[in-house]
Amino acid sequence: MEKMWSGRFSSGASNLLDEFNASIMFDRKLYQEDIEGSLAHATMLAKQGILTQEELEAIKKGLAQVKDEIESGSFEWKISDEDLHMGIEKRLTQIIGDTGKKLHTARSRNDQVAVDFRRYVLRKNKEISQAIKALMEVVLEVASKHTETLIPGMTHLQHAQPINFGFHLGAYLSMFKRDIERFESSYERNNISPLGCAALAGTPHNVDRKLTAELLGFDGVSVNCLDTVSDRDFALEILFNISTMMMHISRLSEELILWSSYEFGFVELSDEYSTGSSIMPQKKNPDVPELLRGKTGRVYGALVGLLTVMKGLPLAYNKDTQEDKEGVFDAVETAELSLEILKEAIRTMEVKAHNMESACAIGHLSATDLADYLVEKCGIPFREAHFITGRAVAKGEELGVDLSKMKFKYLKEIDDRINEDVMEYLELRHSMNARTSEGGTASQRTKEQLAYFKNYLQGE
Ligand code: ARG
Repeated sequence: MEKMWSGRFSSGASNLLDEFNASIMFDRKLYQEDIEGSLAHATMLAKQGILTQEELEAIKKGLAQVKDEIESGSFEWKISDEDLHMGIEKRLTQIIGDTGKKLHTARSRNDQVAVDFRRYVLRKNKEISQAIKALMEVVLEVASKHTETLIPGMTHLQHAQPINFGFHLGAYLSMFKRDIERFESSYERNNISPLGCAALAGTPHNVDRKLTAELLGFDGVSVNCLDTVSDRDFALEILFNISTMMMHISRLSEELILWSSYEFGFVELSDEYSTGSSIMPQKKNPDVPELLRGKTGRVYGALVGLLTVMKGLPLAYNKDTQEDKEGVFDAVETAELSLEILKEAIRTMEVKAHNMESACAIGHLSATDLADYLVEKCGIPFREAHFITGRAVAKGEELGVDLSKMKFKYLKEIDDRINEDVMEYLELRHSMNARTSEGGTASQRTKEQLAYFKNYLQGE
């Protein structure tokens, strides 16, 4: 099988080399971008008088046929063609004859792959942002129903202060919004066209880079060709952005796993999104959030993998760079599937508000409120108030009652300056609603936060 680059070679490539060298079995995913890039390039060549109008028409027709063949499954992907760029060009030439050989004028596979892969990544930046928004809608809906539902706020996985469940979910809405902003800013920064950079140094042909950029929906053309054909930071950005998003998804998943245990009992995942055990008939396992947590690992792997591939490469293009694609494809697919299934798992889960509230009655969640009371009402310095409250907690432990349920007489015994009005302060809902500072958990503040996310999702 003769290679497109076989001119300077006297013998053909070994099958082993074909196997090792080829990217066609995975980069074929970029066929749309590749064909659109070729159409834009050919259109520009014709406008510049480098191709005739008839040649352009033939190329357009031929590429349309190639696209049909790919989409109908009749296109033959061959390892010996090395990559999709050469596979498609070869088929084009079979269909339209020698005119097909003119398409690669003023172009190299180096700018070709840079444009294809960049456009794929840009498209995925948009699609993933949309998918995060869809997840946020569902999280927002659940959060909105639970702005009055008490849940123990924790630090160190220990009961800390009472918050409401809507506020807890609001934290994830904040994270997901920042995730979207990262995908969007990456899109803005990277939406520039590599086409016309050719192999590394530009081309002597009279190309119009602005035209191809415009035809492909880019905001402009890249500044330095050596950089453009060589760097893959746009791909690293999407890997980092997916990694950060998956880290957020993984933290939420970890909470869903904890919450669906008997010990917590805060949520129950629907049967549709739970699995059973092959031996223990009673089990209902949270495989979905566990896998989400697990899949985060492979996405980090893709990020570190590509960082490592890139770190030692001299300018400009090196074949190592071909290793950029599979990790990105895998991370993108993982992200898309993860967002979709997490959305459904949350949409269909049962929130056990009663258990959340009951859990607040353990662990003296309103202890900080007693200290605040001593400061505010009794003029006691905070450090001393902290100590007095510690004594009250110790008393509660001794009596086996939560501070929020402790009889006034015990508190009075601990410090005479405490008055009956303290009882309101120790009440858990009062404690939650007392946190009215901006961004705080008070139901009213939580509602404001959720309204902010609603506005954001509706595009303000
Ligand atoms: N398949 C190659 C890749 O994905 C395309 C660019 C090849 N360029 C070259 N000069 N060998 O990176």
